[in-house]
Amino acid sequence: MLFKSLLTVAAGLLALPAQATRMTQHAKNMFYEEMTFLDNLYDPVAGYLYYFYYPLAAGPHETRSTVWYATGLLQRNEGNDTAHAVRIIKDVIANQEKNVSAQWFGDYTVYPEQPTVGSPSYVPVIYNSWDPNWRGFIGTTLIMIYEEFGYLIREDVQQLILESLYNNTIGDSYRVGGVDGDNLYPSYSNPSLMRAVVTGWTGNHCNDSNMTAAGEAYAQEVIDLFNLNDTLSEFNVPTYYGVSLNALTLWAKYMPASSVMNQNGPRMVADIWTAFGQFYNAKLQNLAGPWDRSYGYDMNKYVAIMSLYIWSLVGRDHVFSGTEKPWLLTHADDGEFIPLVAVLSEFHRSLVPDTVIDQLKSFSEERTVSRQAYTPPFDLEVRNISTWLSSDLQIGGDSYNQTVVGGASQDSTSFSPAVVHWLRAATPLQDASVGYFTLHPSEKSMQARIAPNQLNLTYPAGNASSIFTFVVASNPLGGKRDVTGLGDIDGVTITIGDGSTVNPEPTIAFCGLVGGTCSLIQ
Ligand SMILES: *[C@@H]1O[C@H](CO)[C@@H](O)[C@H](O)[C@H]1NC(C)=O
Ligand SMILES: *[C@@H]1O[C@H](CO)[C@@H](O)[C@H](O)[C@H]1NC(C)=O
Ligand SMILES: *[C@@H]1O[C@H](CO)[C@@H](O)[C@H](O)[C@H]1NC(C)=O
Ligand SMILES: *[C@@H]1O[C@H](CO)[C@@H](O)[C@H](O)[C@H]1NC(C)=O
Ligand SMILES: *[C@@H]1O[C@H](CO)[C@@H](O)[C@H](O)[C@H]1NC(C)=O
Ligand SMILES: *[C@@H]1O[C@H](CO)[C@@H](O)[C@H](O)[C@H]1NC(C)=O
Ligand SMILES: *[C@@H]1O[C@H](CO)[C@@H](O)[C@H](O)[C@H]1NC(C)=O
Ligand SMILES: *[C@@H]1O[C@H](CO)[C@@H](O)[C@H](O)[C@H]1NC(C)=O
Ligand SMILES: *[C@@H]1O[C@H](CO)[C@@H](O)[C@H](O)[C@H]1NC(C)=O
Ligand SMILES: *[C@@H]1O[C@H](CO)[C@@H](O)[C@H](O)[C@H]1NC(C)=O
Repeated sequence: MLFKSLLTVAAGLLALPAQATRMTQHAKNMFYEEMTFLDNLYDPVAGYLYYFYYPLAAGPHETRSTVWYATGLLQRNEGNDTAHAVRIIKDVIANQEKNVSAQWFGDYTVYPEQPTVGSPSYVPVIYNSWDPNWRGFIGTTLIMIYEEFGYLIREDVQQLILESLYNNTIGDSYRVGGVDGDNLYPSYSNPSLMRAVVTGWTGNHCNDSNMTAAGEAYAQEVIDLFNLNDTLSEFNVPTYYGVSLNALTLWAKYMPASSVMNQNGPRMVADIWTAFGQFYNAKLQNLAGPWDRSYGYDMNKYVAIMSLYIWSLVGRDHVFSGTEKPWLLTHADDGEFIPLVAVLSEFHRSLVPDTVIDQLKSFSEERTVSRQAYTPPFDLEVRNISTWLSSDLQIGGDSYNQTVVGGASQDSTSFSPAVVHWLRAATPLQDASVGYFTLHPSEKSMQARIAPNQLNLTYPAGNASSIFTFVVASNPLGGKRDVTGLGDIDGVTITIGDGSTVNPEPTIAFCGLVGGTCSLIQ
C-alpha cells in the first residue's frame, strides 16, 4: 500500500502543468543570490519593494523594480511567491493612468505614494514626476510574465495584463521625438526597441491589426537605422545595451515568424554582442570606451546591466572583481534587473556567438577596433569610434559633431567620448584594481585619434578658452591620497605630447562625498 500511494504522489507531481523556465547554471546562482537580497527589500504589507537607490535607500516604494521582482517570484514559485506576484500585478495595473486624454495615459506610477500626475500639487514633468519609459520597462516585463508564467496566474489576471498593455500601447503612441518635450526617436535605442515589441505583441494578442501594423512599422524604422552601421545608435553602453538586449530577446522569442522583429532580432542580438566582444577587456573586466552613455567608469565598482549578462553567460568570477557584492556597488538598484536576465538566460545564450563567450572569459589579443555609429537628429555627422586595447591598458575615443553637448542624452555627465583604463597593482590595503580617466565633454564637436599608448584630442571649433576636463579615478586605498600633478596618478605614466597646444600644468580639483572643490560626476 505504501508503495502504491508513493506512486500516486509521483504521478501527481508529474502532472504539474509546466515548469519555471530553465536558466543557465550561472544565471541560477545569480538569480537566487539577488532574490534573497530583494526579499529583504520587499515590504509584504505594501506589496511593493522599497525604493532602493543609494543614497536614498529604503524610503518610499518603487513600481518598476517591484514588477521585475514579481517576475522573479513567479520563476522561484516557492511558498506564497505566486500569490505575492499576482497581488503586485493587480496593484500596479490598478494605479496605471486611466485618463485617455493625458500625455501620460497608460503609464505606471514611478512610486505608489506619488500624487496623481497633473493634480494641482504634482505638475506633470516628463522624466521627473512621470517617466514615459516606464511604459516600455513595465510593458515588456508584463509580456514576459504572460508568456513565461501564464500557467501560474489565473485567466482573469492574464486578461488584466492584456488590457493594461493595450492602454500602455495607446499612450505610448502619443510619444513623438521633438514634440511635447518627448525624445523618443528611433535612435533612442532602448525605449524604441521596447515600444516596438510592446505595440506589436499587444496588437497580436488583442487582435488589433492596426496596432500590430504600428508595431511592425516602428520596428522597421529601428531596423533600418541599425542596418546603416550594424549597430544601435546607443553604441557601446554598459547599462543600456542590457535593456536593449532584453527587448531584442523578446523580439526573437515571442514575436511570430511573420514579424520583422522575429526575423531581425537574433541577428541584431548577435551583432551587438560581436561589437561588445571587440571592445571588452576580460582582464580588466571592463568595456573599453568611448561610451555614449554610462553610469560609472569602472564596471567592477558599479552595476552595469551588461555585467549581469556576463555573469549569466560565463559566471560570477568574471564580473565585479570576482567578489564584490552587487548590492554594495553604486547603481545597486540596476541589479534589480537580474530576474529578467535570468529568466531568459537559456534562450538568450543561444543567440550569443561562441567567439564572444571566449572574449568574456579571457583577454585574447592586443587590437585596435574602429566603428561608426549614427544618432539622428543629434549627430550632424556619423561618429567615428576608435579604440586600442591591450591587456593592461586601453584607450578609446569618439570623433563627433553634435547639436548639443552630451549628444542624444543631452547629458554631459553620462556621455564619455574619451576613456582610458589601466591595471593598478595591489597595495597593502587593496587588491589589484582598475584606474581610469575619462573626458567630461564641454564641446559639441571633437576629433579623437587613437594609437597604441596615445590619445590625441582636438576641438575643431575650440579656441583659447576651451578646456579639457578629465574625471580621474582616486588612487587606491594605500596609495597616495594627495594628487598634485599627473605624476601622482597611480599605475600609469601620463605625458603631454610634443606639438600639443594645451597648458601642460593641469588645474586639479577633488570632488568628494563630503566636500571638495568640484561637484561629483556620476
Ligand atoms: C501564505 O499566505 C497565507 C495567507 O496570507 C499565510 O497564512 C501563510 O502563512 C503564508 N505562507 C507563507 C509560507 O508565507
Ligand atoms: C484602460 O483605459 C480605459 C479608458 O480610460 C479604462 O476605462 C480602463 O479601466 C483601463 N484599463 C486598465 C487595465 O487600466
Ligand atoms: C484628463 O486629462 C486632460 C489632459 O491633461 C485634462 O484636461 C482632464 O482634466 C483630465 N481629466 C480628468 C478627469 O482628470
Ligand atoms: C483574438 O482572436 C483569437 C482567435 O480568433 C481568439 O482566440 C482570442 O480570444 C482573441 N483575443 C482577444 C483578446 O480578443
Ligand atoms: C492605429 O494605431 C496607431 C498607433 O498605435 C494609433 O495612433 C491610431 O490611433 C490607431 N488607429 C485606429 C483607427 O485605431
Ligand atoms: C555608417 O553609416 C553611414 C550613414 O549614416 C554610412 O555613410 C557609412 O558608410 C556607414 N559605415 C559603415 C562602416 O557601414
Ligand atoms: C558639424 O557639421 C555641420 C553640418 O555638416 C558643419 O556645418 C559644421 O562645420 C561641423 N562642425 C565641425 C566643428 O566640424
Ligand atoms: C567620420 O568619418 C567619415 C568618413 O568615413 C566622415 O565623413 C565624417 O565626417 C567623420 N565624422 C566626424 C564627426 O568627424
Ligand atoms: C592629432 O590630431 C590632429 C587632428 O585631428 C592632427 O593635426 C595632429 O597631427 C595629431 N597629432 C598627433 C601627435 O598625432
Ligand atoms: C571662444 O569661443 C566662445 C564660444 O564661442 C566664446 O564665448 C569665447 O569668447 C571665445 N574665447 C576666445 C578667447 O576667443
